[in-house]
Amino acid sequence: MHTTKKKCFRGELFVPGDKSISHRGIMFGAISKGTTEITNFLQGADCLSTISCFQKLGIPIENTGPKVFVHGKGLHGLSAPSQVLYAGNSGTTTRLISGILAGQPFPSTLDGDGSIRKRPMKRIFTPLSEMGTRFQCWDPHSFQDARSQAVVNGAFSPVDSGCAPFTIQGGSLKHIHYHSPIASAQVKSAVLLAGLYGDGITKVTEPVLSRNHTELMLAGFGADIRTEGTTVSISPDPVLEAQSLHVPGDISSAAYFIALGLITPGSEILIRNVGINPTRSGILTVAAAMGGDITLWDKRTVSGEPAADILVRSSPLQGTVVEGAQIPTLIDEIPIIAIMAAFAEGTTTIKDAQELKVKESDRIAAITENLKAMGGAITPTDDGMSIEGGSPLHGALIRTHKDHRIAMSFYIAGQNAAGDTTFDDWDCTAISYPSFYGDIEKLSQ
Ligand code: S3P
Repeated sequence: MHTTKKKCFRGELFVPGDKSISHRGIMFGAISKGTTEITNFLQGADCLSTISCFQKLGIPIENTGPKVFVHGKGLHGLSAPSQVLYAGNSGTTTRLISGILAGQPFPSTLDGDGSIRKRPMKRIFTPLSEMGTRFQCWDPHSFQDARSQAVVNGAFSPVDSGCAPFTIQGGSLKHIHYHSPIASAQVKSAVLLAGLYGDGITKVTEPVLSRNHTELMLAGFGADIRTEGTTVSISPDPVLEAQSLHVPGDISSAAYFIALGLITPGSEILIRNVGINPTRSGILTVAAAMGGDITLWDKRTVSGEPAADILVRSSPLQGTVVEGAQIPTLIDEIPIIAIMAAFAEGTTTIKDAQELKVKESDRIAAITENLKAMGGAITPTDDGMSIEGGSPLHGALIRTHKDHRIAMSFYIAGQNAAGDTTFDDWDCTAISYPSFYGDIEKLSQ
């Protein structure tokens, strides 16, 4: 894939459904009674991994493209998988499903791609072990072809890696009050889902609030789940009932068009039906603080989630500071915020974002390497970066590290850079936004 500078971008589009919400629709549908119908489901590789894992757990799931039907079997209806559950590139699949598997009376083995095998899982092992689950990690070399492999039979070497592949031996669980050292919705959700199988009320307290899609959606399915400040409590053994869900557009995908519209002179883009849950919408706050002209239209609620149409007009941007409680609300948007910062006047500082190092790639390193290659002025720090905006960017070879958000963010930079920008891997964009290239082309003038 390669791209060059364009004149401007005008028109409107729908971005694909929200990734976090799509995953949860499958998972919560699977453990509910009846058929959950999901429209605008994200047909990205990560969410397809979640479907495949639940099919291996005995849940019939029909994916008709625009709609997905999950024929749930209730809280205790999953069956022992005869194969490794392959999560691909998806941290959300791996960590959330672990919470559900923690409560099952059978062992399950999880694995994923090279990136998943490096991502830290101790963050879920710690609380789930406290609840009574046992974990065993395996030497990844024993798992040459994890996709089709039968479950672990003792032939593999145990290791203490804290990473995939690993086997979960679940069962009856104790309730806990977990004080999470990190604001992570994946950790919070894993503990809350295990709490459905606990012997009392399970609580999770976070240092700052992370995205709350689990809380909103599980309540819609009938769970007794309550939030007070940064503490969420869940009661065990609810009767979860199938739902009809419409997934709003993913603000993490809309973020590329927000940046594109703001930094490309003469642009005006209307992004329809985007989720604007305040635990996710930090990109809007940052864009406004940078001087971006953004208007929200027709604010509404879609399947319990706030949504709106977002109108973006090109604007001169100024540097800003992004830090603290804001970080979890925009953690996946930092690569594209870095691109906006490179086109802004002055300095943008991003702090308190050490989590970037353990995403699909080490995003502090990947942003630094690629922005420097394009002529940007960036200094990485231990918990973020500082970017001096305004140096004109030129095309370069972008090393995506197979990270979808790095690829798409630098594609946006390439629309405003002199010369050719090329990508060492483009397939990774299918993780969260298979139609990204076509959607941009339609707006190009
Ligand atoms: C997600 C939570 C975030 C985010 C990820 C999706 C979720 O991860 O980065 O892309 O759906 O719960 P953490 O919980 O690790 O911060």
